[in-house]
Amino acid sequence: MTVVSGIQPTGKPHLGNYLGAIRNYVKLQDEAHANGGKCFIFLADLHAISMPHVPAELHASTLEMVATLVACGLDPDKSVLFNQAQVPAHAELQWLLMGTARMGWLNRMTQWKDKAGKNREGQSVALFGYPVLQAADVLLYQATHVPVGEDQKQHLELARDIAQKFNNDFASEEAPVFTLPEPYIPEEAARIMSLRDGSRKMSKSEPSDMSRINLTDTAEDMAGKIRKAKTDPEPLPSDLAGLEGRPEAANLVGIYAALAGTSQQAVLDQFGGLGFGTFKPAMADLVVSVLGPIRDRFVELKDDREALDAILARGAAQAREASRRTLDSAYAALGLVRG
Ligand code: TYM
Repeated sequence: MTVVSGIQPTGKPHLGNYLGAIRNYVKLQDEAHANGGKCFIFLADLHAISMPHVPAELHASTLEMVATLVACGLDPDKSVLFNQAQVPAHAELQWLLMGTARMGWLNRMTQWKDKAGKNREGQSVALFGYPVLQAADVLLYQATHVPVGEDQKQHLELARDIAQKFNNDFASEEAPVFTLPEPYIPEEAARIMSLRDGSRKMSKSEPSDMSRINLTDTAEDMAGKIRKAKTDPEPLPSDLAGLEGRPEAANLVGIYAALAGTSQQAVLDQFGGLGFGTFKPAMADLVVSVLGPIRDRFVELKDDREALDAILARGAAQAREASRRTLDSAYAALGLVRG
């Protein structure tokens, strides 16, 4: 079992990142550790330059994200925690895979279509080639399990397509260069929506801070955002069918179920027939009880830049070592001789 996943260090990590991905990084880290497997979690700082960004802020936000991940339970003694920029193999393998990825495949990526909008011609080449770097990220370590939210599923399917085509074109069946990775997507909370608009994903890049619960928010902020979350005037239904056509209500019930470790139906058994005036305070208590301790640990860790830099340096050394063999095989398979 080899677990690999990444998170962009731009913007603040939020409840969607936590429930969709980070919580599973920790779960799979512990499973891998118990079973002699490996776990690699990285800050995708190379991906972050595909959109306009502020260079002077990138390192600080990378360190903040490391502090957040450790606060959520990632353990640098169990996982290799690093940033891509310190492991050149990621950028190298991306280039090697550029010969295998097809324009048509990348053109179909919904994230590319969403981010580029009507102005494709004006986008960076990095934004278009982004999923190829993501494929390199996981293929470098022979990932088997890739914990991600629903929005990254298509990118993982592309990584499998690239791996398969590369193996077919350049390797023998007995000795493939790459392992095909499997996405690991939570059943509940695969896609947490904005608190202001139930049709939009909760996102780091959404301008309104009221749309998301940041892992670094104070308890008062979290409760305030839940109190002001958009809802409808009806009470909660008593079964799942009653949530249809009510995206905001469905989102809040989904969040509650995921945080309580129960099903949405169980939440409706408890709250069906009651209004949001009753549900929201209960939800705020639950959110604060789960995220409050994470925030407290984050506050303890975040200013010790030396310690955070040391975590990344150690992880990068381990990642450079772990990625060497696959990178060498990819060069060799393509007939590239490096002396
Ligand atoms: P990023 O930084 O946007 O998000 C990090 C993780 O959080 C998940 N996520 C969500 N899950 C549920 N509901 C939401 N509203 C929500 N928003 C985000 C994402 O699915 C992701 O798992 N391209 C990736 C980073 C990346 C990567 C990789 C991931 C780079 N290389 C290799 C996996 C493997 C990204 O931008 O994630």
